[in-house]
Amino acid sequence: MVMPQEPDVPADLAGTFKDLPDINVVRHAGRLLALAESSCPFRMSPELDTLGPETFDGALPAGITAHPKVDPRTGEMVVFCYGLEPPFLTWSVLGPAGEVRRGPTPVDTVDEPMMIHDMALTARFVVLVLAPAFFDIDAAMAGTGSFVAWRPERGTRILLVPRDGGPVRQAADDAYWMWHTVNAYDADEGQEGGAPGQGGDVVLDYVQWDHLAMGPATGGPNPGGLVRAVISPEAGSMRRTRLDDAAIELPRIDDRLIGRRHRRLAAASGTGARDLLPGEHDALRWYDLQRGGSELWAAGDLAVGEPVFAPTPGGADGEGHWLTLATDRTDGTSWFLVLPADEPESGPVARVRIPVRVPLGLHGTWLPTEEPAPG
Ligand SMILES: [Fe+2]
Repeated sequence: MVMPQEPDVPADLAGTFKDLPDINVVRHAGRLLALAESSCPFRMSPELDTLGPETFDGALPAGITAHPKVDPRTGEMVVFCYGLEPPFLTWSVLGPAGEVRRGPTPVDTVDEPMMIHDMALTARFVVLVLAPAFFDIDAAMAGTGSFVAWRPERGTRILLVPRDGGPVRQAADDAYWMWHTVNAYDADEGQEGGAPGQGGDVVLDYVQWDHLAMGPATGGPNPGGLVRAVISPEAGSMRRTRLDDAAIELPRIDDRLIGRRHRRLAAASGTGARDLLPGEHDALRWYDLQRGGSELWAAGDLAVGEPVFAPTPGGADGEGHWLTLATDRTDGTSWFLVLPADEPESGPVARVRIPVRVPLGLHGTWLPTEEPAPG
């Protein structure tokens, strides 16, 4: 009998997990970071060479979310990190020069290990949606349950963590799941007499799922749809409105509007074709929240990924292009698509064949040669 050979694993790597910082990319204060979920990002050179794990001078050793948010007004990058042990949820702030302004600060209203994928930011608050997805290591080790347990009876909470360090506000509701935020802002902002961070309600747009479904079930009868939550920090209450019934995911705005009132957003969507694999999207959809309604570009044989906005340098609001990666479902080739922001439903004005296969379902960032200055 021939015993299978153990793979040749270096002794210092045996029993360790492989870092997989492949979820997102962000640039902040000259650092180009490849991001994993609540673990150390990997820093890259401008030529995308791997430079190594980034702990921010040792201040954030547990890592950060794959979805940090850079405030275009202040230049701050705000992050969170969840863990399996106390403190189960922390948040931190990096200043515009990359310095650690606030080290990991526990969110003391969270006393269990919970999975949180994304966040949002307003001038006043860090916005965190806590759906009832609990890590259950004991059940997983005993083989009696999933590593991530969905407990709808616990409901979903939205936490508003004041960026000035004040007490955390929260509003509770029925259970739903959220992978991705669109954006959040303070409702008074942009109103007559209003000013950034003045007060009032918080508006959060996001893609809402009925429940958490990981793996093949995600494309099943649980489509994510565009929802708006308006949260009262003072009353600790919220009201939710479904803005559209179309199934979408991977929503994005012009990143220069993070934390401010947004008008337009784009997302991966579908035409209703029956031959899509779970999680595949064969269309892009654009919303104009001021005008109402949405525009769709059907991608045909292409499965499309997250749309990313590339503003025209010096251009007016909304001027630019939407970029996405796509996979030709007939031959597996990967493509980079450029769509005009003023008429995106007309389809790409450029298609570039990518010489390697790029998996879909992950995130990207448009990086102009010059990193934008805060303001
Ligand atoms: Fe994500």
